[in-house]
Amino acid sequence: MNTIISSRLNNFLLITLASALLWGCGSSDEALELTANQEQQVAERIAPEGHVSMAGQVASVSSSSASVGAARSGSDIYASNCIACHSSGVAGAPILGDVAAWTARLTKGVETVYTNAINGIGAMPARGTCMDCSDDEVIAAIDHILENSK
Ligand code: HEC
Repeated sequence: MNTIISSRLNNFLLITLASALLWGCGSSDEALELTANQEQQVAERIAPEGHVSMAGQVASVSSSSASVGAARSGSDIYASNCIACHSSGVAGAPILGDVAAWTARLTKGVETVYTNAINGIGAMPARGTCMDCSDDEVIAAIDHILENSK
């Protein structure tokens, strides 16, 4: 009884071993070698994202939330995401061009103003509802507001 089981087991192991060997022979070394070009492509595919930076831009990996491709301009972001509240003062939003309001906001430091807008403040939702904006894009939109409010 025991011998039957163990001989079956042996057969099984033999077959497994044999097919493993055959498999090994089947794939010659040649097939595994990559051309320099292919190696380059593989390196590009596995390279971490965010390493490309354009001239004059600070490379930023951690601050990017979901943006892919070139950053949109501050005025573009403002026009599509911020204007709804910041042109008319919805819910007490400081209005673009209101020098006094923005000067008062800036007394806490521009970095704090940036962070507040990114995280949300009072009635303003995080990123002013621009969920696909990177931090840099929100900051560019704020700079656009500040430029036009002094
Ligand atoms: C739904 C309306 C709304 C939208 C959309 C909105 N904001 Fe605001 N924002 C507000 C309100 C309200 C405040 C004032 C919040 C407070 O101080 O309580 C504010 C305040 C701010 C401040 C001042 C933060 C501070 O620390 O004083 C900045 C900067 C700002 N918004 C930038 C933006 C930018 C940039 C966008 C577009 C990406 C945007 N907001 C979109 C409503 C909005």
